[in-house]
Amino acid sequence: MQEITLRAPSATANIFVGDDALDKRLPILTATQKNFVLTDSNVYKLYPNFFKKYFDGAEIFVLPAGEENKNFQSLQAILERMSTSGLLRTSRLFAVGGGVIGDIGGLASALYMRGISCVQIPTTLLAQVDSSVGGKTAVDLGEVKNIVGAFYQPQEVLVAPTFLNTLPKREIKCGLGEMIKYGALSGDIFELLQKNTDKWTDLAFLTELICDCITHKARVVERDEKETGERKSLNVGHTTGHAIELAYGFSHGEGVLYGMLFETQIAIEQGVCEKEYGEQLVALIQKALALAPLSTPDFSKVGECAKLAKSDKKNKDAKTVAMAVAKCKNEWTMLYLPFDEYQNSLTKWANRA
Ligand code: NAD
Ligand code: GLY
Repeated sequence: MQEITLRAPSATANIFVGDDALDKRLPILTATQKNFVLTDSNVYKLYPNFFKKYFDGAEIFVLPAGEENKNFQSLQAILERMSTSGLLRTSRLFAVGGGVIGDIGGLASALYMRGISCVQIPTTLLAQVDSSVGGKTAVDLGEVKNIVGAFYQPQEVLVAPTFLNTLPKREIKCGLGEMIKYGALSGDIFELLQKNTDKWTDLAFLTELICDCITHKARVVERDEKETGERKSLNVGHTTGHAIELAYGFSHGEGVLYGMLFETQIAIEQGVCEKEYGEQLVALIQKALALAPLSTPDFSKVGECAKLAKSDKKNKDAKTVAMAVAKCKNEWTMLYLPFDEYQNSLTKWANRA
């Protein structure tokens, strides 16, 4: 197993990557405390032996799978069960699942008794490569994603690529969305993705790249844990991505892929992203989208969904849309566009997709 340490100003998180991380860390982490496990209905059904082996006798809360359950009602139900099962301040919460479970589990552990220890065990590629690391926790509120949450570092993250064996191709595509985002920020990751398109579903290749992406994220979070500057780079494609995700009911990774596709084209058009590099990035994104294509999305009304970008957390005022975009290899920048210009440009590029 490989170890990556993330030394954030608020706390240190130890990240272990490798299937042996489960056997090496879980017996230690579950030994003394009363434990609480949060997972979703799909993961619970797929991995009965995992739960039996490592969490026999622990309190297990199984949330119905799906982004629609990342809300206040679920959070309240989780916190109530934590309380009635007698969790103490020294207890640990283990979040076993994709980004939905990681986000809501992280927030529950931040809130219960003002903060108990959280261990993330991500089971989707997206969660392994991105959401389980960095301490962003949240639930959605109405139409706005991740608007209620906290920065709260997990104590440990155990990344076991073996979980990816049961992941549908569509979810691999979603994880590749976040990996390509790292490619947009790091020339090395960009080249690895570009040179190995035939290995995008190969576990050994993905495992190496998971480490590279986590290391990139860890260094950024160490420098800017609360996203006052550099951490905004980890939102490349996300302004439009979140809007599309909500309006079209896509999953997060798909929203990010479409968001990066359109925002990169907008950035090239604005002269902000270098053309030749931007076109290579667009080609990578299109390749990922083609891995598990959706039935042709109807983007004719995308201008309406552009309004959702008005609530993006990066915006400075109500009339301007803020986007983190790739500039050239290894460089990114913020692009601010008046809303009307953003809406027109998005409509143009989305209708050409
Ligand atoms: P998800 O948690 O909904 O998982 C996707 C699907 O895969 C679900 O149906 C789940 O049950 C299933 N699944 C999970 N593990 C599986 C496995 N091993 N085999 C088969 N199926 C499995 O979604 P996600 O894509 O993992 O995460 C998206 C969420 O993460 C969004 O809510 C997004 O906002 C959040 N996110 C957070 C951060 C962060 O920094 N905190 C970053 C990116 C995304
Ligand atoms: N996924 C973006 C971040 O963690 O900042």
